[in-house]
Amino acid sequence: MSSLTIELSDLLGKAFTDIGLPESLGEVRISDRPDLAQFQCNGAMSAAKIARKNPRMIANEVIEKISENNLITNIDVEGAGFINIKVSDEVISNMLAQMLEAENCNLSKISDGANVVIDYGGPNVAKSMHVGHLRSSIIGESLKRIFRFAGYNALGDIHLGDWGTQMGMVISELEIMYPDWPYFDENYEGDYPKESPITIEDLEKIYPKASKACKEDEARKEKAKKATVELQAGRRGYRALWRHMVNVSIESMKRNFAALNVHFDIWNGESSVHELIAPMVEEMVNKKWAVDSEGAIVIPVAKNDDKKEIPPLILYKSDGAVMYGTTDLATIVERIRDYNPEKIIYVVDQRQNLHFEQVFRAAHKCGIVPDDDKELIFVGNGTMNGKDGKPFKTREGGVMRLEDLIAMGREKALARLSEANLAEDMSDDEKNEIADMVGVAAIKFADLQNNPVSDYIFDIDRMTAFEGKTGPYLLYQAVRIKSLLVKAADAGFTPDPTGIMVSDEDRDLALILLQFQDILYGAVRNLAPNLLCDYLYRIAQEFSSFYAKYHIISEKNDAIRSSRLALCSLTLKQLKTGLDLLGIRVPDRM
Ligand code: ARG
Repeated sequence: MSSLTIELSDLLGKAFTDIGLPESLGEVRISDRPDLAQFQCNGAMSAAKIARKNPRMIANEVIEKISENNLITNIDVEGAGFINIKVSDEVISNMLAQMLEAENCNLSKISDGANVVIDYGGPNVAKSMHVGHLRSSIIGESLKRIFRFAGYNALGDIHLGDWGTQMGMVISELEIMYPDWPYFDENYEGDYPKESPITIEDLEKIYPKASKACKEDEARKEKAKKATVELQAGRRGYRALWRHMVNVSIESMKRNFAALNVHFDIWNGESSVHELIAPMVEEMVNKKWAVDSEGAIVIPVAKNDDKKEIPPLILYKSDGAVMYGTTDLATIVERIRDYNPEKIIYVVDQRQNLHFEQVFRAAHKCGIVPDDDKELIFVGNGTMNGKDGKPFKTREGGVMRLEDLIAMGREKALARLSEANLAEDMSDDEKNEIADMVGVAAIKFADLQNNPVSDYIFDIDRMTAFEGKTGPYLLYQAVRIKSLLVKAADAGFTPDPTGIMVSDEDRDLALILLQFQDILYGAVRNLAPNLLCDYLYRIAQEFSSFYAKYHIISEKNDAIRSSRLALCSLTLKQLKTGLDLLGIRVPDRM
């Protein structure tokens, strides 16, 4: 890993050790006050407490010890003991040139291809996808892209919900509706129909009906539970019907995810690990990790110093059904067997955090995840709320389907394009395609700009605006730079990456562009695409003021013009790269 701040931190870190203080105090950051300094180090303040000395004195001693280097042109102590640093314009210019020329913006990799499994999306079979799956899909997809960019072999796993009680509810409902179907005849030995007898639209009606019936009637609920147990145990007709339901659901999910530019490498589900469960539980019982509790088999996971009660993880219920935690544990076994990942990252609704606490504890307790270097990480995501502060619903108060939400974004984007007189000369097809990109960019950016764990309010008017911190604003800026570069090329002017001249006019933009690597490292370390969102917005704003203040194509001096065009190209490159890491597509024109 290397970036300008890392190199500066190394220099200052060594100076701190030279005077007998910890190296970590030398950490250098981009200054909060760009008017006073480009970079700063606040270590002398913390050092003062350790060394019981005046921080200004320490800061001055540190400066004395800084070794020969070609980075720093100015370093001095300000105020209480802040160390302010200015770096040479030549260094800035060289670094910008390298970023512009290297394919990955010259980012040094954090990993050399270690496997990381990212579990996100998690839609359920037989239920339609709703906005609750939206955040997990959007954040997970972005984390996958960011990890890949940083050198990991990140694999996206959808982990379908295909083995729970909802399956038994739907099967038993169909059995009540169509008792003559061969799927329900236990003596039937022939082949089952190849074509699914039900469509996704049927399922969308049947599941709510079944779920309501089970809530109202205890006997009906028992029927559903029994069907779930029999399905899991392998009843032939149930399995055949279940396969149809899985297939029609996957088909509809693929459509939704493609529209969102979300893609998975692994299409496994809870059911995929069924065969692993019996041997896994047997071993846990033999080793006394799992115990009998009123007919159920559970793993106690509470610890003495727990502040709140952590209930045991249930492996088998007393009726023999396996639970959500059982499949999650067996999935860890499977993932380690198949990919031996360095990390498994779960991007799931924050309200499931207790569940994951139980699963992770059980995995460690039973030695499924023995190594300290393997990490199980939960990235809880907050909810997307309506203006009333409650989870987002349709106007009628129902669950908003993902498809309808995406259509809503597209509609609004079309209206916005025409308000802004954009895409005017385009055919309807092209206009619709752009509206799709703008609508999805709006939805995704509004989501990703929040810390994953925070809730946010879904406000379609605000998120689709071409001004402010929105996806459409960033797309607009990127497209604007694209067309500027095309216009320049038409006039015979090209950017000169090696001739970037850093002067008072472009230093602000140049210094922001230099932060790309630090921002990406931060996004990986903190599992936080929102850091990248903030950064892209800052670039776009800084570019906008640069563009307003200075001549670019109309600049008379050849060297200045080529230098500015190179800054434009690097701005575009970072915007495009960054948006791609958020899973957002940029149109060619608008
Ligand atoms: N299917 C679950 C739901 O809809 C989400 C799955 C999350 N991933 C996991 N490994 N449990 O709530």
